[in-house]
Amino acid sequence: MTWRRRIFFSSARQEGCGRLGVEMSEAAVEIRDLRVDYDDFVAVNDLSLSVPRGEVMGWVGPNGAGKTTTFRAMTMLLEPTYGEIRLAGFDIVEDPRKVRKILGYMPDMAPVPTDLKVWEFLDFHAHTHKLGSRKKRGIRVDECLETVNLGEKRDSFCKELSRGQTQRVVLAKTLLHRPEVLVLDEPASGLDPVSRRDLRKAVQHLASEGATVLISSHILSELDEMCSSLCILNQGRLVANGTAAEIRAKFGDGTRRMILEILGDAQSLCERLSGNPGISNLHSEERQVRFHFTGTLEEQSDLIRDLAAAGFKLRTFSEEQFALEEILEQTTEGGTA
Ligand SMILES: Nc1ncnc2c1ncn2[C@@H]1O[C@H](COP(=O)(O)OP(=O)(O)OP(=O)(O)O)[C@@H](O)[C@H]1O
Ligand SMILES: [Mg+2]
Repeated sequence: MTWRRRIFFSSARQEGCGRLGVEMSEAAVEIRDLRVDYDDFVAVNDLSLSVPRGEVMGWVGPNGAGKTTTFRAMTMLLEPTYGEIRLAGFDIVEDPRKVRKILGYMPDMAPVPTDLKVWEFLDFHAHTHKLGSRKKRGIRVDECLETVNLGEKRDSFCKELSRGQTQRVVLAKTLLHRPEVLVLDEPASGLDPVSRRDLRKAVQHLASEGATVLISSHILSELDEMCSSLCILNQGRLVANGTAAEIRAKFGDGTRRMILEILGDAQSLCERLSGNPGISNLHSEERQVRFHFTGTLEEQSDLIRDLAAAGFKLRTFSEEQFALEEILEQTTEGGTA
């Protein structure tokens, strides 16, 4: 299949700006009209997206949504049917060598050679990336092992590692050449909670140094914490992208999720609220009452005042954010392959 391309980009990458070249105006990732077919199956269609430098973008979507396919196209492992991709200003077709220099890709199921020690495996890749003398490579290997918190396994054979430790070695390998653009396909899969936290920290650290990170996961709460933006894919198409707040505002149903805690009987508070036309999904648990509220902010304020005036001893009053899981379910209904 030939890759039919259209020319969208005319500006050449400015010389002299490296990984910390935040002054550069181009986006870190530009995808235009991407389409990827597997024979007669369209896996990704009409995908256009721009990711600014320094962004940590979470990629979500049900199984088969096209996340891995898009990542594989971006990382030149798969030839798109149509469209254009630029990473850090480099066109992946015209400048594949430059793209390889600035790109770090962690696939979802990366094999590691079982008969090599961890440091040997990493040193091999450091050598491939021409990271300098044996001593320099050793320093960089140790730095990356430190970043993924696996220094103590430096001299172990790869075959002796657990699944999560193997994931971390692969991540260390991905970081060796200080990539400007990191594409991580479900890097947290198989990691324990502490390792997930370490991964979050590592990703945020890399972003603070100027790297742009695209990261896929099925654990939305984790992405919400770690990512500055999200993109939702379904059946090969981009459903939404933006900050979590923007996505909530766009796809939320306009209700606010309220939680009231009282000293005393929650049931009687429930009864009092049940007649309010702006209130739905009302339920109580011990001393807590939860409900959805569609009234104005003014009406919300009046409601609290009236409850206090009626003698209810309100301890706390809080609003819960619209759960991203709900939005994902809503926007990708019927999308799981
Ligand atoms: N090599 C292939 N040959 C044919 N179809 C493929 C191939 N790889 C993926 N597909 C199909 O393309 C679609 C997108 O798959 P992809 O792996 O990109 O999804 P994904 O969003 O990464 O899913 P998951 O969350 O399960 O990792 C799926 O319907 C899948 O069956
Ligand atoms: Mg995938």
